[in-house]
Amino acid sequence: MSHDDRTALELDDVCAAYGPYRALFAVSFSVEKGSAIALLGPNGAGKSTVARVVSGLLPASSGHVRVGGSDVTGKAPWAIARMGLSHVPEGRGVFDSLSVEENLVLSFRRRAGRRNLAASLERAYARFPLLAERRHDRAGTLSGGQQRLVSLAKVLVVPPGVLVADELSLGLAPSVVDDVYAALADVRRRGTTLVVVEQQVDRALGLASSAVVLEHGSVAYFGPASGARAVMAQVLERRSRSDGANSL
Ligand SMILES: Nc1ncnc2c1ncn2[C@@H]1O[C@H](COP(=O)(O)OP(=O)(O)O)[C@@H](O)[C@H]1O
Ligand SMILES: [Mg+2]
Repeated sequence: MSHDDRTALELDDVCAAYGPYRALFAVSFSVEKGSAIALLGPNGAGKSTVARVVSGLLPASSGHVRVGGSDVTGKAPWAIARMGLSHVPEGRGVFDSLSVEENLVLSFRRRAGRRNLAASLERAYARFPLLAERRHDRAGTLSGGQQRLVSLAKVLVVPPGVLVADELSLGLAPSVVDDVYAALADVRRRGTTLVVVEQQVDRALGLASSAVVLEHGSVAYFGPASGARAVMAQVLERRSRSDGANSL
């Protein structure tokens, strides 16, 4: 597959497995610099597995991953992060026993420097008012969705080159999802390339210009965002038919 300086992220025939269980089959797609791509598919299709392979948490069993034109296949997560790719994984990812603010401070000091701490906190709280309200609460007392908001705020203090965000909206109230998507649109305007993993197809397609639909670990669609909805409907239809057959 061809790539040039305008490509921020590229997967080339990527296969991946969890032990004997094969989860990805020759997945190929690319994302243009500064654009947003929606990574869609039903539960278990392989979306989070793609996110893990791209960020180095799970090695590809074959194929190649490139970030900004450099081959990162087999590199460690910290090395890929240093190349400008940030991954907000699904699930939690905060220190439960620390307050929301202590969680942010730990990350902001490292990413943005001690001198910028006050300004960084102010920006994060302006962007996510819910975190300002809960700043002194232990992060472990937040809902799963709210904890993902903390993880996102940690990463956005210094906008990364590529942000891979895995189902950020899961478990969040609709008004907070609005805040999340406004923040994503804002970092994209400032040049960050986005990979938005979502089950909420409408939300993701509202932001993204292109889309990938995964089905059983393979790419069922890669193209303009406008074509993804019809393919998603077919994939869901196939799934409900096979679920029906299995329950007979
Ligand atoms: N740690 C794991 N060990 C074994 N199988 C896994 C693991 N994580 C995911 N899988 C399997 O890999 C497939 C893809 O999972 P995943 O990438 O999490 O899907 P999605 O994010 O699209 O819901 C599923 O069949 C899932 O059960
Ligand atoms: Mg997932």
